[in-house]
Amino acid sequence: MDERKRSSSPLLFLVLLFAVLHLPGAPRCATAASNPRMLFLVKPDPIVLRDHGGELLTGNVTVNILYYGRFAPAQRAIVADFVRSLSAADVPHPRVANVAPSVASWWRATSLYRGGGARIRLGRQQQLMTLDEKQRSLSPENFTAMARRAGHHRGGAITAVLTAANVRVSSFCASRCGVHDHAKAGAHGKTRFAFLWAGNPAQQCPGQCAWPFHRAPAQTAGAPPLVPPNGDVGVDGLVISLAALLAGTVTNPYGDGYYQGEREAPLEAATACAGIFGSGAYPGYPGKLLKDRATGASYNAVGLGGRKYLLPALWDPTTSQCRTLG
Ligand SMILES: *[C@@H]1O[C@H](CO)[C@@H](O)[C@H](O)[C@H]1NC(C)=O
Ligand SMILES: *[C@@H]1O[C@H](CO)[C@@H](O)[C@H](O)[C@H]1NC(C)=O
Repeated sequence: MDERKRSSSPLLFLVLLFAVLHLPGAPRCATAASNPRMLFLVKPDPIVLRDHGGELLTGNVTVNILYYGRFAPAQRAIVADFVRSLSAADVPHPRVANVAPSVASWWRATSLYRGGGARIRLGRQQQLMTLDEKQRSLSPENFTAMARRAGHHRGGAITAVLTAANVRVSSFCASRCGVHDHAKAGAHGKTRFAFLWAGNPAQQCPGQCAWPFHRAPAQTAGAPPLVPPNGDVGVDGLVISLAALLAGTVTNPYGDGYYQGEREAPLEAATACAGIFGSGAYPGYPGKLLKDRATGASYNAVGLGGRKYLLPALWDPTTSQCRTLG
């Protein structure tokens, strides 16, 4: 819980709203679970992310990935296919044709923001495989240096640093599942680059950062956790964080785009809708989702090659509502 406040560069983080939503919610959840419709009697305050007018990431944007620590090839494929699917043309997959919304249709919510959104391309992927004890312990400050060293910032790219399950990051799990931020680069610090970090929570806090594929920390009863669409609680959870952070990065890359609340602890495109994945969601219930008949896995979007994902709701600036797929 080392929450160092930095004045020079705002640390924009993905607040762990799941835990907040669950902890005090036990009686309310019980009521809601017995009669979900009750929730509609209480109209929630509309969430409004104010447009602060700063530069957004639009046009062609490359996402480069730095896998920090061991990710199996199958795990990297889950992540890479997700990023590749974001701006892919909608090609119906024979097995899921007309059944599920595409990952690209999920990402299109970001094109409703000023500037028309970003067309994402997967760029370089690197992996730092063998880490000594010291290298397995990081603070968010390390990611700035890593992103800069990787040189990924050239040409309007986002660097995504993804840490393996055994890498400890201060504040990971305690208050966040990942962060996005920006830093200055270039000879005179004139150019800026955006970067993000998300961790594989499998060993450290699956209940917080891989919900609903794992029980929330305070949850002792109720529905069992959902089966993750790619069979990997940690990486399917990581994709939820990555998806949320990418949406936050393009719509609020430099801390003066779309957000609600404090600049240092903003609610952004996805965090404003934390815990919501499908229609009818309420605290502790992710909402109505699709189910894979063969595996029992829950998902709400399909990417290239028919790969399934569970992606968070995004705030829609045209309706001021959280937009769910399907
Ligand atoms: C973006 O990429 C597409 C496809 O590669 C290309 O046709 C287009 O010209 C690019 N746009 C810009 C502004 O660079
Ligand atoms: C993380 O940052 C600290 C402080 O700058 C530094 O001492 C440490 O070597 C960095 N760790 C890695 C793995 O880069």
